[in-house]
Amino acid sequence: MAYLHNAWYVAALSTEVGGEALFNRKILGLSMLLYRRGDGTPVALRDRCPHRFVPLHMGKRVGDDVVCPYHGLRFDCTGKCVESPHGDGHIPRAAVVQAFPAVERHGFIWVWPGDASKADPADVPDYSLLDEGHANSKGWAYLHMKANYEILVDNVMDLSHVDHVHGPLLNTAGKLSPQIPKVIEDGKHVSVRWEWHQDPPMGFFSPFLPTPGAGAEHHVEVVWTAPGTMLLTVGAVQGSKDPADGLLSWDHHLMTPESEASTHYFFATRRNWLVEDAELNRMKLDGTVAAFSTEDKPIIEAAQEEMGTTDLWSLKPVLLSSDPAPVRARRVLSQLIETEGAQRRG
Ligand code: FES
Ligand SMILES: [Fe+2]
Repeated sequence: MAYLHNAWYVAALSTEVGGEALFNRKILGLSMLLYRRGDGTPVALRDRCPHRFVPLHMGKRVGDDVVCPYHGLRFDCTGKCVESPHGDGHIPRAAVVQAFPAVERHGFIWVWPGDASKADPADVPDYSLLDEGHANSKGWAYLHMKANYEILVDNVMDLSHVDHVHGPLLNTAGKLSPQIPKVIEDGKHVSVRWEWHQDPPMGFFSPFLPTPGAGAEHHVEVVWTAPGTMLLTVGAVQGSKDPADGLLSWDHHLMTPESEASTHYFFATRRNWLVEDAELNRMKLDGTVAAFSTEDKPIIEAAQEEMGTTDLWSLKPVLLSSDPAPVRARRVLSQLIETEGAQRRG
């Protein structure tokens, strides 16, 4: 499986890596150890001691260093072995753990699995909407999916499934499937937009509109950034042509491959109404995440299992009028992977 290696991937929610803890997560097939230095900044190392390959997250912290639980080699946060209790204390040259660039942005810890010299924190996608707004207007969540990450990107880039898959909270009443949505490709980004009238409105918005339950203009715009992150702006408005006058939710879907056939699905959301309401915030996040886990997840995991491969094109899928956005994103990504491979081969 070819991944894009020179890219920032979300490795964890900021809240998953706490205090002194040693946290493990497999990303692009590699076990990574994540933790925080004393000053809070994140560290990402290969979660494997170079002596007998014990996962280092089973060891212990000594200051900003990690001590292997098996024979006691001690590594600093750059992966360099700084102490051996063996013999005269000589440290073999090969006693090094691979370190990965890591940064914290927008409530996530991002890692760069590729060539460290190319890692630039300025290339982390700009999800700064999550840095602003009232704390009770925002939420973050994590889901695990037994499916290839590109299949999960397809799911978000082709929102016509919302007509069919989703229950009352998210359902779009058959309004998306007949449309041929507008797709724009721009470098590492592909965006797609739908607009529709829905009466009664999406369950998600209906009780909070000026006239609850009455028809409203809806829109959703999805912006995909390679390799697998998407920002959705979803809105409903009554009595105005301008979506900015209405209710807006900014939903971030960030896919990180765990392996070829499994994905870490990170989600973060912010809304522009009743922003101080903590109870609504919890209900909105829990309701949305429950819809992903009980409505999207069973269908996508079953499809992945039935496919028996992660190579979609090898199965010659039928294409529909809603497919241009996911297909463009796939093309951009495979082009980036090909270019990276060609550069590596020199
Ligand atoms: S396996 Fe880590 S020191 Fe031996
Ligand atoms: Fe869905």
